[in-house]
Amino acid sequence: MQDFPADLPADGIGAEAALALFSDAIRTRSARLGDALAFAHMDPPPLDIAAQLVGLNATVNQNLLHPEASPFATEVERRVIDWLAPVFGMSCGHLCAGSTLANLTALWRAREAGARRVVTSTDAHVSVAKAAHILGLPFQAVPVDAHGRLDRSQLEPTGDAAVVLTAGTTGRGVIDALAPVPCRWLHVDAAWAGPLRLTRYGARLDGIEQADSVAISAHKWLYQPKDSAMILFRAADAQEAISFGGSYLATPNVGVQGSRGAAAIPLMASLMALGRTGLAALIEKNMADTDELAARIGADPRLELKQAPEAGVLNWRPVDGSTVDVLARLAGTSSRTMIDGALWARQVAANPHADVASIWGRIRTAL
Ligand SMILES: Cc1ncc(COP(=O)(O)O)c(C=O)c1O
Repeated sequence: MQDFPADLPADGIGAEAALALFSDAIRTRSARLGDALAFAHMDPPPLDIAAQLVGLNATVNQNLLHPEASPFATEVERRVIDWLAPVFGMSCGHLCAGSTLANLTALWRAREAGARRVVTSTDAHVSVAKAAHILGLPFQAVPVDAHGRLDRSQLEPTGDAAVVLTAGTTGRGVIDALAPVPCRWLHVDAAWAGPLRLTRYGARLDGIEQADSVAISAHKWLYQPKDSAMILFRAADAQEAISFGGSYLATPNVGVQGSRGAAAIPLMASLMALGRTGLAALIEKNMADTDELAARIGADPRLELKQAPEAGVLNWRPVDGSTVDVLARLAGTSSRTMIDGALWARQVAANPHADVASIWGRIRTAL
């Protein structure tokens, strides 16, 4: 940051100079998520149409808190929820800035329904523990089985609990068995793998339609710029208990956020541009890339593959114990995760421009 002032400048450099400075820095100093070698994180390069509409939206600064200050955007959000909720067996919901918030919203609703504690797996995302903490609910993490799924044999009675199952765990991309668990509220954190439901792999999420709520990050596998996610509910009246009205509000404020932008517009435009088939083709390309890389890793005696990938995430490590050093050479291509106390490389297929042959070449060179 040497080219940026250390203290708040007294005099401005002018909009043109600031725009040039920041445009150049953004272009040259950001992680290149759409690079052929990018295969590391759950952050896709956003679709061009979505990125352009985020910029255009910013020029009109619509606020979803007030329908009269966001007439088109409010309609669009209703429509896109009407499109997507039924895919998951849900009937209503709203957009929010990320699945951290979507999980918090779901567990808030669960508490209103009488849930007195939160039960999930040890591989659940940290936002679930965080939400329990914020809500003042005791939190319990049940061990996962050898495959990485919540081990149902270790579940004690959960009649008074909100149970959170994960569709696409952050570290391993594993989909918990989604069959209902007897409990006060069943939430599925489908932040990552939710969009698989729209593809030929949709059956991997069977059971999700029996949850009370579902969280999905559109800024992950729906290729949206941040901040775009949604919380969906099965019961049509579920949002009433998490809505606050009065004072200056003409309509009740639903959920955790107050003011929020029109993320539904780029999302709906992307879905119209691609159609369900076009979106599925992108995700299925990501899935095929993961399978191909897994096959190459599995066939190399110098490497150990943790397990066959099921939702676009795979884990591997060198058999000679050099994981730390190898990972240091693979920044941008691989990320990391701990499994059973050991370090593994992690690949996430969020980038439709990834080139598996080049990625494999880089991994081999790093060994
Ligand atoms: C399974 C899961 N849940 C929740 C989250 C949090 O989502 P966000 O980053 O959109 O807040 C993540 C993020 O990686 C995740 O992988």
